[in-house]
Amino acid sequence: MADHRDLFISYSNQNLTRAEQIVSAVKYFGVTCWFQMRDSKKNYVEEINNAINHSSDFVVLLSNASVSSLMVRNEIARAIYQQKKDPAFSIIPVVIEELTEENMEVINLFLGSLNWLDAGNYNDDKSLALAIFEQANLEPVHEEEGKPSNYSTEKEAERIRLKEQNAFFNQYAKMYLDGLFAKYPSPAVLDVGCDNGDNIMLRLAGRNYKFLLGVDTNEAAVAEANEHYGSEKAAFVCCDVTREDFFRSAFKQMQKRGLFGFDIIHISAVLLHLGKAAEALKSLYLLLNPGGSIFIQDEDDGMNVGYPYSQYFEDCFYIWEHSKESGDRRMGRKIPLLLKEAGFSSVTLHSSTISSLDFGGKYREAFWALYFDPNLWAADSAAYFDNYEAFDLLSKVRARHDEMKAAYMNGDYFITLGVFFYTAVKEEED
Ligand SMILES: C[S@@+](CC[C@H](N)C(=O)[O-])C[C@H]1O[C@@H](n2cnc3c(N)ncnc32)[C@H](O)[C@@H]1O
Repeated sequence: MADHRDLFISYSNQNLTRAEQIVSAVKYFGVTCWFQMRDSKKNYVEEINNAINHSSDFVVLLSNASVSSLMVRNEIARAIYQQKKDPAFSIIPVVIEELTEENMEVINLFLGSLNWLDAGNYNDDKSLALAIFEQANLEPVHEEEGKPSNYSTEKEAERIRLKEQNAFFNQYAKMYLDGLFAKYPSPAVLDVGCDNGDNIMLRLAGRNYKFLLGVDTNEAAVAEANEHYGSEKAAFVCCDVTREDFFRSAFKQMQKRGLFGFDIIHISAVLLHLGKAAEALKSLYLLLNPGGSIFIQDEDDGMNVGYPYSQYFEDCFYIWEHSKESGDRRMGRKIPLLLKEAGFSSVTLHSSTISSLDFGGKYREAFWALYFDPNLWAADSAAYFDNYEAFDLLSKVRARHDEMKAAYMNGDYFITLGVFFYTAVKEEED
């Protein structure tokens, strides 16, 4: 466990739900936590010592249960030892329920000299999280600064899942692309993050276009795209849209065809993986002809709803969010401002959710395959996740899958997911 985290969260299992709420508010700000180590199969003491060693600060959630918990007391003792070695290591007690007089006396022996926070004094958990950061001298990560994800379509499970996703999403994309293609008699099209070309070819089927350039960082996928779809009218090139070589590769292809720019840029399920989405959009703006349009499809888990509430869905969303391959799961909401910053105008949001009832429920099973079938997740080891809890939840989700899917197929659950479809324009020059 060499990984470093910002906060170690110590709590009693009896307060798991409350602890999860606070951890979720902390993580909202991009701050990382060690949490739930007790479920680990590894040696508990070794695991805890390591985790505290690899944390910047320590938060203990004080309740009558946690004050009486031997594990919590061990963790506090270890944190006090750590603070002796490193005075910058803060210990932050957070009271989450009123303590009995007896418990107050006990815990005062350990933590009486420290500055305590009382969760009851804050309007919500995000305000509490900010107070914790202030006391820990922690700078929350700025939301806009993303990390590129490790997304790959190398694993068969992801290829199958993506295919299902595209068959379904194309029902929406088609409506918006129809409007876009009507504007250009024979457009030059750039597809960013084209993968093996299947999706863009599906979306271009039956449409008139002059030339298609697909770009992707995945060399094998690009080779496959060229093999299946390469022609006079279509070329696929391996390059990274966030780097200089992207321009060189694009210009080379444009030159060959006497093009000065593209009329339509298509980018589907890619911005969330880039880390540098703002820079990528600025580059794409330069490659668009004046009067040209960009089409963007991207995801945002803020619009996810499962009704009636089920922990199963929450667990699936949590696993997705913490997979190292799933990228920025709040990208959808950021796109309008990123487009504006890059110079685009007429930014239009065509729709922001898809639901299990769309198209008369015809795609109900495909909808399930998007996020809720663990057999279609490439997750095979803890290394696939950015925290241990997500990996730990996998077995829980696997065990409940068949029962939950049957209930969903029976119409017992209604689900919406945040999938945003945007278009925007590069204004004609005067
Ligand atoms: C979720 S897939 C989407 C593929 C396709 N657009 C679709 O809708 O089916 C994301 C794709 O973006 C590609 N990608 C990720 N980062 C990239 C980058 N910096 N430049 C170009 N492609 C990238 C990945 O290799 C992958 O093929």
